[in-house]
Amino acid sequence: MAFMLAIPMTMMAQLDNAVKVQSPDGQLELSFAVVDGVPHYALNRAGKPVVLPSKMGFTLEWRDDIAHAFVLKDTKYDTFDETWEPVWGEEARIRNHYNEMLVTLEQPIGSVESMDHSTEKKATVMQIRFRLYDDGLGFRYEFPMENALVYFWIKEELTEFAMAGDHTAWWIPGDLDTQEYNYTESRLSQIRELWEGSHKDGGWPWTAFSPTGVQTALQMKTDDGLYLNIHEAATLDFPTMHLDLDDQNLVFRAFLCPDATGYKGRVQAPFNTPWRTVMVTTSATDALASRLILNLNDPCVLEDVSWIHPVKYMGVWWEMISGKSSWSYTNDFPSVKLGETDYEHATPNTNHGANNANVRRYIDFAAENGFDALLIEGWNIGWEDWYAKQKDFVFDFLTPYPDFDLPALNKYAHEKGIRLIMHHESSASTLNYERWLEKAYTLMNQYGYDAVKGGYVGTIIPFGEGHYSQPINNHYHYCITEAAKHHIMVNSHEAVRPTGLCRTWPNMIGNESAMGTEFRERINPGHTTILPFTRLQGGPMDYTPGIFETDMGKIVPWGQKMKTTICNQLGLYVTFYSPLQMAADFPEHYAQHMDAFQFIKDVAVDWDKSLYLEAEPGAYIVTARHPKLSTLNKAAEGVGTLADGKKGVVSNATKFVYDLPDDATIEDLWHATPHDVWYVGGITDENARDVEVKLDFLKPGVKYEATIYADAKDANGIPDEHYNAQAYTITKKTVTNKSKLKLHMTPCGGFAVSLRAL
Ligand code: NOJ
Ligand code: CA
Repeated sequence: MAFMLAIPMTMMAQLDNAVKVQSPDGQLELSFAVVDGVPHYALNRAGKPVVLPSKMGFTLEWRDDIAHAFVLKDTKYDTFDETWEPVWGEEARIRNHYNEMLVTLEQPIGSVESMDHSTEKKATVMQIRFRLYDDGLGFRYEFPMENALVYFWIKEELTEFAMAGDHTAWWIPGDLDTQEYNYTESRLSQIRELWEGSHKDGGWPWTAFSPTGVQTALQMKTDDGLYLNIHEAATLDFPTMHLDLDDQNLVFRAFLCPDATGYKGRVQAPFNTPWRTVMVTTSATDALASRLILNLNDPCVLEDVSWIHPVKYMGVWWEMISGKSSWSYTNDFPSVKLGETDYEHATPNTNHGANNANVRRYIDFAAENGFDALLIEGWNIGWEDWYAKQKDFVFDFLTPYPDFDLPALNKYAHEKGIRLIMHHESSASTLNYERWLEKAYTLMNQYGYDAVKGGYVGTIIPFGEGHYSQPINNHYHYCITEAAKHHIMVNSHEAVRPTGLCRTWPNMIGNESAMGTEFRERINPGHTTILPFTRLQGGPMDYTPGIFETDMGKIVPWGQKMKTTICNQLGLYVTFYSPLQMAADFPEHYAQHMDAFQFIKDVAVDWDKSLYLEAEPGAYIVTARHPKLSTLNKAAEGVGTLADGKKGVVSNATKFVYDLPDDATIEDLWHATPHDVWYVGGITDENARDVEVKLDFLKPGVKYEATIYADAKDANGIPDEHYNAQAYTITKKTVTNKSKLKLHMTPCGGFAVSLRAL
């Protein structure tokens, strides 16, 4: 290897004499030592270094000595083993098993001058809590109340992650405002040369901080075949951590997103920072199975979670994203002033998507096909000048356009068993959104909306803040906790990428926070084979799959072909976990392929078991999942007991599992016996692949009917002259746990399989 790693031998030796803790299986070992007053840690797996000796700590306003004047005062050990049940998730039960080491570091009284004179008779105390799991490490800094440090401002977090080799990494550029990027696959040493190009086709606005800056979750692979992932867990009241690579030494340094004044966190003790995490697994499939981030978050704090449920939804949305319709109602106004602009007398444009007739058309289709909900964007006044104007009072989140009859449409939807999903685009004015939040949530309660999609497109207001600074992270969290009081489930776009907080607040059922389907033809092949390793480690993504008309040129003249096939889109419903899953395309596009659409109707969105059969980041993923019947029942019961007392239909996923007729009632469901059901999905990058799926996870001695949705031989998702994204075959077979399914994925393709016990 071409790098000289500049770790002094003495330091290696000193860390050899460090205090240590091992993972429950003994494979991972964490060492900690104070070297010349500076805390250091190192992580080994099976005796080999994973993280070389790396610095820890902070520099603070008025207290730079905090970086280098510590002594190790005390070390405590603990162990923990518990199995918990998430409200929704990839599996019904999650084991949280770790060994813990808590080190107490001190700067003795009088050794330093305190910023807060009332506390200058106290020692400066910083604790570091390490948790070692079989699949990785988490550590955080803790500042107890008894401390010379009570209120302090962070200039820099000094945490390092010194890599032991020039690993392959799947990264997006470090940015203070957007995460909507394609991934670049490269060696760590190539990040600098590829960094400029990594911004191509990404989100807006983008605000870089370093030509070797990257975002977490950062997935890496060593030449020895270890899969490493650096991320963070439970980011609360703190800025987001990006990574800045010292590419001479292959050392990542924590880069905290600064606030408008340049500080990187204002702290009041007692306080715990978020966990810094290093996941270490020996296979890609084990990385997908890791629950490290969720486990490091606190248990659910909501006492009543009965109102939280998985949601399969459609939307008056792709029309606007594709360019067919507009969010805005009129072309009359170059400038809108809410409360002054007269919408009642405005001339409607001809393509406002959220009009009564169109919304009814979507409600009908969603209800006929057993969906739970329908999102409608562009329902509220203000869209005429919402974008890129840096406008504070941009929406009121209350006033519908003249052609959107909010009470009547909700009534119509509820009668058909559909909930409408509210849309709150803040246009990144967090100030304005907070002004209206209580009224907006109250309006939702009044009409029976139980879920909201939020959005933060543009430059953050208050000006000078980025999308991931401490005050703005606090804003996102405030919206979640306020929503919980109103029994509202939240799915935010452009908000900070998640760090497992959905364990604690399970009403956070989705986030975008990465490049999603809205980027259409700009999405690279293989993008969706990376996201489950990176973005999804922190929580579910509202990726909005299900595009059947993949040639956008058929919708608008400037549209191009998406690098995908219909079967690739179907595979995403299994390879991507989300309790909130969209069928994003138009009803008329599904109507042309009702046989393939059947898979989207049948597939569940909440699971009691998930098996990651084969995977490699940037290449392919094959996943099998078993639905959680209790939530299917719950969804159906929910439909039966809507606020207005009207009964709705039983969802299609439920009908598939229970073999119920189309006009089934809740009573029919109660008396029905479930089939054992599994779903398998596969996706690939630009390379065609043949996979053999062993069905040994099925119950022995039971026959299952397999419905196989596969790319046709001549299917092709590469946008060349042979583009043929809509070519698929659907076959049925009787199989058992001894069977193997041979499946072919075309370039940018995939497959989906439903398995139902006969
Ligand atoms: C960006 C979001 O990701 C997208 O889903 C939404 O339609 C637009 N903002 C408008 O809010
Ligand atoms: Ca977005």
